[in-house]
Amino acid sequence: MSVDFQSWVAAHQVRFEEVLRNLLPRADIAPQRLHEAMRYAVLDGGKRVRPLLAFAAGELADADEKRVDVAAAAAELIHAYSLVHDDMPCMDDDVLRRGKPTCHVQYDEATALLVGDALQTLAFQLLAEHRLNDDASRQLEMTRLLAVASGSRGMAGGQAIDLASVGKPLTLPELEFMHIHKTGALIRAAVLLGAHCGTVSAEQLERLDRFGKLIGLAFQVVDDVLDCEADTATLGKTAGKDADNDKPTYVSLLGIQGARDMAQRLHSEALETLAGFGDSAQRLRELADFIVLRKF
Ligand code: IPE
Ligand code: IPE
Ligand code: MG
Ligand code: MG
Ligand code: MG
Repeated sequence: MSVDFQSWVAAHQVRFEEVLRNLLPRADIAPQRLHEAMRYAVLDGGKRVRPLLAFAAGELADADEKRVDVAAAAAELIHAYSLVHDDMPCMDDDVLRRGKPTCHVQYDEATALLVGDALQTLAFQLLAEHRLNDDASRQLEMTRLLAVASGSRGMAGGQAIDLASVGKPLTLPELEFMHIHKTGALIRAAVLLGAHCGTVSAEQLERLDRFGKLIGLAFQVVDDVLDCEADTATLGKTAGKDADNDKPTYVSLLGIQGARDMAQRLHSEALETLAGFGDSAQRLRELADFIVLRKF
């Protein structure tokens, strides 16, 4: 990572934390416990990869940063909700997330369920309340995009397949289908949401869409690798969980090296889709590198 990229990431992470703080309901407003738990699940943690992708795509599209902030927050709130539910006993049954006790451990299961519900609806409230593009039909398209990426044809659908696949060896196409949905869809949406805040041609959107799809899949392949290679302290979540839960992953199917090679291939293909953008896609390229080379 170049120093310049590192400072771009750090500056956006710090600024975006403040954006989230202001968009989330205050913890002293009723219902206090729910609001406190929502803030617990969203603030002070996470790499903010989806927002960073939205910022990079927004810069490429010459978008107003304030608009991208809102779109990025919507994507991050959906992501945070998906993590809260993913960790619950009925799903992956995890006790550690972002270096802290998971939401249902810190609060209780019913609260965690409601935190997920409320974060999800807050994401759509933001898309409805803030002007994100002067063209109202484009803004409606953004809302549709996030809804599809989150629902049964996106993240929630992928999670359903994940749970139904415990103990089953999936084929490579089945595993790819699962990963593209449970993780890829929201990452892809984050790229497109950032771009939609600015000005892009249909052809550019098409290429960004392909970039998002490839890098979204690569993201989950690397998540599978890290789950068995990295340690709990570095990850801020329990390492080795996939094997413990008997989940089919890229590592269980292809081995560590096979999974790493797969991530590399996806990374190269993702970079190819950006070839026509020149310098304006530099941050997206750097984020693609980060997604594949990251250690946590
Ligand atoms: C973890 O996502 C869950 C997956 C979808 C693989 P991240 O690795 O982006 O988690 P945070 O946001 O940085 O905690
Ligand atoms: C999670 O996949 C995908 C989500 C939609 C949250 P994982 O179950 O592998 O995520 P981690 O490893 O718990 O972060
Ligand atoms: Mg899971
Ligand atoms: Mg999990
Ligand atoms: Mg994982």
